[in-house]
Amino acid sequence: MPNVFVANWKMNGSKAFASEFGRGLLQYLGQRPPAASTLVVCPPFLLIPELAQLFQASGVAVGGQDCAVKPAGAYTGEVSAALLKDAGAEYVILGHSERRSHHAETSAQVRAKAEMALAAGLIPIICVGESENERASGNAEAVVVAQLKASLPNPETPNPHPILIAYEPVWAIGSGNTPTPAEISAMHTAIKAAVAGAEVLYGGSVKAANAAAILGAKGVDGALIGGASLKLEEFCAIVNAAEEL
Ligand code: PGA
Repeated sequence: MPNVFVANWKMNGSKAFASEFGRGLLQYLGQRPPAASTLVVCPPFLLIPELAQLFQASGVAVGGQDCAVKPAGAYTGEVSAALLKDAGAEYVILGHSERRSHHAETSAQVRAKAEMALAAGLIPIICVGESENERASGNAEAVVVAQLKASLPNPETPNPHPILIAYEPVWAIGSGNTPTPAEISAMHTAIKAAVAGAEVLYGGSVKAANAAAILGAKGVDGALIGGASLKLEEFCAIVNAAEEL
């Protein structure tokens, strides 16, 4: 059964939204048997302390959407992994395709960020995915595995958790289009063959209506959810669909 669900709010939300969403999520969790799933909410940086406090002792974790490649210093506008941890985050999304495309983030930088995250005691969620052309060329699996190998932290770096990877085809993010369950399974199998012990989440247009089909695909260990994670009912329906599989 898939068991990790990450809400990626991107640059959305407000203090009022976070408070309402957080309270609603706790209410939903209170009405059902103890969570079989790990839930992680990744809001914009400024909302992390508020959500971390709200979720204290609830089992719901909070994560950042990025961190700096450096531990501290003269890097105006950056947020370090250690500060994320200090603010209450337990996870951090790294190498999201929007970071890679809008901020020209390279796999080497993603790797450096992952090292920072591990050093700070955060669990990195490393994102990888192919473009539409790469999928059309029939090379998607080779492209994604190569991108992943270049983005992962050094295997020698102490890491108490299984490595968490999010497979997010670039063309599926925010588009309403998704690969078929068979294509998702094939990619997750290729990733697991390349990285022993990895847990692999799928991301890209996951919603309540397609959750059972996607999360039921072999090799899918959970989901990274963007747009649908901003609607509490939709987010909870995705988790429910997976838990009912
Ligand atoms: P989406 O985004 O669910 O809105 O497609 C997923 C993501 O970018 O992580």
